[in-house]
Amino acid sequence: MTTHKLLLLPGDGIGVETMEEVKAIVSFMNEEGLASFETEEGLVGGSAYDAHGKAISEEHMKLATESDAVLFGAVGGPKWDGVPYEVRPEAGLLRLRKDLALFANLRPAICYPALAAASSLKHEVVEGLDILIVRELTGGVYFGEPKEITDLGNGQKRGVDTQVYETYEIERIGRVAFELARTRGNKVTSMEKRNVMKSGVLWNEVMTRVGREEYSDVKLDHMLADSGGMQLVRWPKQFDVIVTDNLFGDLLSDIAAMLTGSLGMLPSASLGAPDERSGKRKAMYEPVHGSAPDIAGQGIANPIAMIASLAMCLRYSFGMVELADRLEKAISDTLNDGLRTKDIMSEGAREVGTREMGAAILAKFRG
Ligand code: NAI
Ligand code: MG
Repeated sequence: MTTHKLLLLPGDGIGVETMEEVKAIVSFMNEEGLASFETEEGLVGGSAYDAHGKAISEEHMKLATESDAVLFGAVGGPKWDGVPYEVRPEAGLLRLRKDLALFANLRPAICYPALAAASSLKHEVVEGLDILIVRELTGGVYFGEPKEITDLGNGQKRGVDTQVYETYEIERIGRVAFELARTRGNKVTSMEKRNVMKSGVLWNEVMTRVGREEYSDVKLDHMLADSGGMQLVRWPKQFDVIVTDNLFGDLLSDIAAMLTGSLGMLPSASLGAPDERSGKRKAMYEPVHGSAPDIAGQGIANPIAMIASLAMCLRYSFGMVELADRLEKAISDTLNDGLRTKDIMSEGAREVGTREMGAAILAKFRG
């Protein structure tokens, strides 16, 4: 059995609490011989700043680049409000994303049957929903140059951001989406605004070519991104994998997230390019939520987003599809039993804390 190197970075706030539940599951997999993980734990964000005045140490950055995957908790909070910009907790997360060159952000929107009633949309619209948004993460308007505010000298200023995409950036995010579609519903919907944006015309052209030349077995549709937002709310189940740029992906993945209920339920993955020799991708897995300073330290945070991030790690970094399915089913079964943390509590359900929710999921996973 191959041994995989896993770096755990709990961070601060509820990141520390929810990571404990992941550690218990990883230990269980090791003890039972289901998998072989060599884990290391490091400091990032507020915990790192408190220890040595940086958002992440060089030593832990090195560990991250040498690991097969990184599991990240959450960072940030008012405690570090006065801290210089370069060493504030969030800088640790940005540094990791940048140094590992994580250009593909995967945000699944899965609606667990037990929570369908909690969605702001009608039950039948969201029940059984399982879509995946693939967002380009290192290009586009958030990074394009020029990026500036200039003084026009007449009492006016001009703010400029530039949307830039090159062929290789569109090809590589496209390939990630097509590959993932092959493991799911075999369908990709590419979203841009080719009607008003040149980068959208190029995006559409490149996706079409990559689809035709390399993935003719996968169905490819195109949709204008604004209309895509509308369709996501109208009938999300029409989608399987959505691939889109950095800005549209930011908006569309937040919309998709809310179809399914609480922030405490949502995992994510960020993938880099495959290594030329080993073919392995750098990858980091983390919940969508932050460090939740308002509830940190109380033992009431929902650990599901963190545990579901581990499931994504098993699936996408290590190809352990059966274990990933089993862990996701353990989450679903636990919810079906009526256990709820405070953030997803509903009438007639049983309210539990972080530990109890984690333990119940592990018990289901154990079988
Ligand atoms: P947040 O996601 O931390 O919290 C928003 C709300 O959702 C809070 O009321 C919180 O209690 C609740 N919540 C979030 N996760 C939950 C969970 N697992 N279980 C139960 N309730 C949960 O976002 P907020 O408050 O805007 O930011 C707090 C800090 O986190 C800030 O410093 C922010 O910069 C940072 N942050 C960090 C992220 C990361 O580490 N990836 C992402 C987003 C924010
Ligand atoms: Mg966002």
